[in-house]
Amino acid sequence: MAQKIAILSQKGGTGKTTAVRTLADVLRRTGLRVLAVDLDPQGNLSDYFDVPPDAAPTIGDVLAGRAKAPAAVHPAPDAGEPPGPAVHVVPANLSLAEAELLLAGKMGRELTLRKALKLVDADHDIVLIDCPPALGLLTVNALVAADFALLSSEAQYFALQGVEQALEVIELARDGLNPDLEWLGVFFNIADMRTVHSREAFDSLREHVGEKLFDTTIRQSIAYANSAERATSILDHRPDLGADYLRLTDELLGRLGLAAPRRRLKPLLADAPAA
Ligand SMILES: Nc1ncnc2c1ncn2[C@@H]1O[C@H](COP(=O)(O)OP(=O)(O)OP(=O)(O)O)[C@@H](O)[C@H]1O
Ligand SMILES: [Mg+2]
Repeated sequence: MAQKIAILSQKGGTGKTTAVRTLADVLRRTGLRVLAVDLDPQGNLSDYFDVPPDAAPTIGDVLAGRAKAPAAVHPAPDAGEPPGPAVHVVPANLSLAEAELLLAGKMGRELTLRKALKLVDADHDIVLIDCPPALGLLTVNALVAADFALLSSEAQYFALQGVEQALEVIELARDGLNPDLEWLGVFFNIADMRTVHSREAFDSLREHVGEKLFDTTIRQSIAYANSAERATSILDHRPDLGADYLRLTDELLGRLGLAAPRRRLKPLLADAPAA
């Protein structure tokens, strides 16, 4: 059975999709079979992996009942070099917005993704679900399908507020359709920890959520926009920055209790440039 993780945030532009793209790459380098599900009609994740815009079927087709999930699993063109299995992607495009509307009028609308993913579960070790920047029906589908929720937070004073709102939605999923959903934690993304502002926001969040806040923060750099444009992993484009994601993955694997891939990450961490 795959461990399914929904990555979300209350706000847009907190680096969620970049996190899914990069975590997928780190995890595959530890030998895990990773499926990345694009659940955003913007289709950014599909772009970041360089999936052709006309790839079909997509997650929109799956949620609309026009296709089965296994048919929508595409190998990512920039899936990375061996060793490590290629990342698989279920892409999205604007048709997902239409599928969401269609879904809204249906019975069991919150369960659609969960049912769909059952068919691809056995072929993967980890499923990462990239949520859209809204806490609506698509995000609820992700939280009902997932075993874990992972929050990406902006490194700002408003971080706490955003985390609290996202936690309310996680709580709703738990109270209703997915009582086993576990909150993995929250990490600071696109952060400039040289500023007092960001450090204070970090400390304040730590006070409120304690160990749920990851020690690793993802540093802000223009290199991310460049690597996204080239559909290249930051691990290849700027290994010095990519080291942040190696450290985040190390913490993540610890929280997931996945000791073997965590051991396989050690040599990569040892080779990584210091922060
Ligand atoms: N660590 C970083 N430093 C600087 N820029 C970053 C970083 N991570 C991502 N970005 C850039 O920030 C922008 C938004 O990132 P991304 O698409 O990952 O965010 P998102 O939370 O998925 O956005 P949305 O809410 O629209 O889905 C992109 O241009 C991306 O390249
Ligand atoms: Mg996104």
